[in-house]
Amino acid sequence: MSNNVRPESMERITTPELANAFIEEQLIELRKQIGDKKVLLALSGGVDSSVVAALLIKAVGKQLVCVHVNHGLLRKGEPEQVVEVFRNQMDANLVYVDAVDRFLDKLVGVAEPEQKRKIIGAEFIRVFEEEARKQEGIEFLAQGTIYPDILESGPVKAHHNVGGLPEDLQFELVEPLKFLFKDEVRVVGDALGLPANMVYRQPFPGPGLGVRCIGAITRDRLEAVRESDAILREEFAKNDLEGKVWQYFTVVPDFKSTGVKNNMRSYEWPVIIRAVNTRDAMTATVEDIPFSLLQHITARITSEVAGVNRVLYDLTPKPTGTIEWE
Ligand code: XMP
Repeated sequence: MSNNVRPESMERITTPELANAFIEEQLIELRKQIGDKKVLLALSGGVDSSVVAALLIKAVGKQLVCVHVNHGLLRKGEPEQVVEVFRNQMDANLVYVDAVDRFLDKLVGVAEPEQKRKIIGAEFIRVFEEEARKQEGIEFLAQGTIYPDILESGPVKAHHNVGGLPEDLQFELVEPLKFLFKDEVRVVGDALGLPANMVYRQPFPGPGLGVRCIGAITRDRLEAVRESDAILREEFAKNDLEGKVWQYFTVVPDFKSTGVKNNMRSYEWPVIIRAVNTRDAMTATVEDIPFSLLQHITARITSEVAGVNRVLYDLTPKPTGTIEWE
């Protein structure tokens, strides 16, 4: 049994110097553990898996095989950034799997939120397993486990998560971040030269935009979620709110309302903006976003996003609302 208690002597990683010391130590450990064998990693592009990837690329180079599954529920620009950073800049061995049609076809007509989560989770495991079987000589599976996951106090990953991996594939686990807290992972990510928008990105649920396209997912409504989310993120970045608001995103419900566009009656979806702050995701407060910014974002979304004629701001704290809408 591996030890799962953070050593008391372990100093909190708060500076680039401490991060570099941690990295040097891990490089020795990882090379010792892995030797000349191959390691597999599911690389979502989230903070934890990205930091594990960067660390392993440094430690064992092309012996690491990263698998990035694009399930069609990622944010705008995310799959492209994974390819750019890891394949083009870090020269990683990256398998990019375009599984968009597979996932979206499986989700047709499925409206119940937990059922959607189950389908996305199960399909993810199937796709990853297929890719794993195509690789020869893999002996290790790397995972972005962090200390809160072990303590089971990390609500973001601990509850109804998608990230389970195949049980019948016999790999030894490689978990270099398992004693780190999130803020420490970010300091290490910085020291490894990962882009700031990857290291400091807001939490993003495993089922992705799938739980923000309410009810049965359709491709056109999913695009409305993706495009409106991209506008919201761009405007928050421009207005210095990135990093100050814990989580912000858009939701598109599965109903329409009437409106007027180009002097014509329209019958289209609303977009709901959610922006919250929290310490642990168990409770959350709503951000006081400047009204003029909300008006500007509304104008952009209603003119730039196809199929949308209204924008609403969700004023509900948690409780009584959850952070996500599903
Ligand atoms: P709720 O909606 O439960 O969300 O208030 C709390 C935090 O958890 C994230 N969340 C998820 N994360 N898989 C995940 O990995 C999920 O199925 C999931 N559902 C919610 C949510 O984004 C928020 O940060």
